[in-house]
Amino acid sequence: MSDALHTPVCDVLGCTYPVVLAGMGGVARSELVAAVTKAGGFGFLGMVREPPALIEAEVARVREVTGRPFGVNIIPAATDSSLLDAEITTCLALSVSAMTLFWDVQPAVVRRLKDAGVIVVYQIGSLDDAKRAEDAGTDILIAQGREAGGHVRGNEPRNRLVTDVVAAVSLPVLAAGGIVSGRDLAEALSLGAQGVVVGTAFMATHEAFAHDYHKQRLIEARDGDTLLTTDFHINWPEGAMVRVLNNSVTRGLRGDPKSGSREAIGDEEGRTIYLFSTDSPLRSMTGDFEAMALYAGEGVGRLQSIVSAEERMRSIVDEATAILTAGSGPER
Ligand SMILES: Cc1cc2nc3c(=O)[nH]c(=O)nc-3n(C[C@H](O)[C@H](O)[C@H](O)COP(=O)(O)O)c2cc1C
Repeated sequence: MSDALHTPVCDVLGCTYPVVLAGMGGVARSELVAAVTKAGGFGFLGMVREPPALIEAEVARVREVTGRPFGVNIIPAATDSSLLDAEITTCLALSVSAMTLFWDVQPAVVRRLKDAGVIVVYQIGSLDDAKRAEDAGTDILIAQGREAGGHVRGNEPRNRLVTDVVAAVSLPVLAAGGIVSGRDLAEALSLGAQGVVVGTAFMATHEAFAHDYHKQRLIEARDGDTLLTTDFHINWPEGAMVRVLNNSVTRGLRGDPKSGSREAIGDEEGRTIYLFSTDSPLRSMTGDFEAMALYAGEGVGRLQSIVSAEERMRSIVDEATAILTAGSGPER
C-alpha cells in the first residue's frame, strides 16, 4: 500500500487509493465496479434511469465478489420523478454506502440520502454549484472540468475549477475530466484535491460494459478527436453538452439533430435506440454503433491499449507514487 497517496477521503469512502471510478451510465456495471474496488479504488455503479430490479441485481453481484464498500450513481435531472423515487428507495433498502449525484443541485435529494446515513458525493461543474451542494449537506465534491467525457456540466478547465473549489469550500474535492495517468493524479493532489475520478480510462478496460466497438475507438483516438456537442440529446434536459469522439453525427452527415424525427439505429434487448439519443454502445446492444454517442474525455489520446481495470489502477497508482515520493511536483 502506498501511504504517499493516502488522503482523508480514502477513510471516508473506505478505499485504499484516492482513485474513484466514475458512475458511467451503462458502462460502469458490476464487473467493472468490483474490479476497481478490489484493486483498491472506489467504484460507482452507473445506474442512471435504470429500474430498481437492475440496481438490486448489480449491487448483489458486486457484493458476491468483494466485501469492500462501493456506491451508486443516479442523475435526478435526467430521471422521471417516480423512477427516481424508486431508485433511491431501492438504494436505501440495500444500504448502499455512498451515492453520487450529478447535474443541477437538488437539495431535497441530498437531504433524503443524508437522513438515511448515505455518504453523498455531488459532481459539479462550477463554483456556484459547489457552494449549493455544500449548503445542501453534501459530503464530497467532484469538480468536473470541461475535459470530461460524457455529459459536461460546466465550462471550466479542470485545474482552474479544482483550485477555485478547494479554496472556496471546506469539503474534500475530487478532480474529474481527462485523467488517465499517475501524473494527472499527482497534479490533482498538488492542487489540493484529495483524489481523482476516472471515467474514460476505466471504460477502456476488459471489465467495462461498453461495447468492444466503443473501446476500440477509444484506443484508436488521438488528441483532439473529442468535441463538446448538444447533438446527442434524447432523454436529457435540453442544451446538455456531451464530450464525444467525432463521428458522422457530429460531422453533420446524419441530418439535423433538432428536427424531432426519430430514426431507429439500434436495439438493446427489445428497447429501440434512436439516432441522437444519449445511449452509448454497450455489450447488450446491436446496431449502427458509429452513429451513437461515443463518449470520451480529452485524455483519450493517451490511452494505448485495453487492459484490465487492475492494470489501469496499478499504472496510475505506481506512477503517482513514484512522482510524489521523488518529491518532484508534476511537470507543467
Ligand atoms: C461513457 C460515460 C458515461 C458517463 N455517464 C455518467 C453518468 O451516468 N453519471 C454521471 O454522473 N457521470 C457520467 N459520466 C461523466 C463522469 O462522471 C466523469 O465526469 C467523466 O467520466 C470524467 O472524465 P473522463 O471520462 O475524461 O475521465 C460519464 C462519462 C462517460 C465517459
